[in-house]
Amino acid sequence: MKFFIDTANLDEIREAQAMGVLDGVTTNPSLMSQEEGEFEDIIRAICGIVDGPVSAEVVSTDTEGMIAEARRNAAIHEQVVVKIPITPDGLKAIKACSDDGIRVNVTLCFSANQALMAAKAGATYISPFIGRLDDLGQDGMELIQTIRQIYDNYGFETQVLAASLRSPKHVVECALAGADVATLPPDVLGKLLAHPLTDIGLERFLNDWRAWQATKNSDPVVV
Ligand code: G3P
Repeated sequence: MKFFIDTANLDEIREAQAMGVLDGVTTNPSLMSQEEGEFEDIIRAICGIVDGPVSAEVVSTDTEGMIAEARRNAAIHEQVVVKIPITPDGLKAIKACSDDGIRVNVTLCFSANQALMAAKAGATYISPFIGRLDDLGQDGMELIQTIRQIYDNYGFETQVLAASLRSPKHVVECALAGADVATLPPDVLGKLLAHPLTDIGLERFLNDWRAWQATKNSDPVVV
């Protein structure tokens, strides 16, 4: 499973990149709105940090506007994947962009039928929003499992990009469900390695080692 980071913050992206396990970046208009600077400059800077796909979302809502914006976003850098919402206008834009060779990450997916439509339109990625479904009392992970099954049934190459993840447990469940990509908020990425027994175990190993070394360095007993 690939790991993307879900942020537009350059410091957070640099930190994640330094971990050595980062495969790409997803952004959205809400994440962008938290940053200083111009959209194009931020996307270009992200592409300079990470060697992988960088999702840049359109904000137009009509097909023609989305297509024009998608072309502009794709021209920013070869790593850019254009993010388009799965609306009726969006579907037409997804099809037109995919036919044109522009890679599309289809966003705001909350149902299996939306994912099926996106795949038929040629999407490169589908982004089901797990946490937001959980927030409504539904089972977001069940949607990942269902989409995986449908795509496998028909050999769709659209990659399942699990989004709106809120916890390390979500990450494990995505991996078990066969998601191709998990896009992680920085705090969730940071928590993946953490385990109290690792910390306690390391402390005990080092204490035992120091105690052993101290016995070697102590003065010999004079009889
Ligand atoms: O980038 C899309 C998605 O990951 C948003 O997550 O936490 O705003 O539901 P969230």
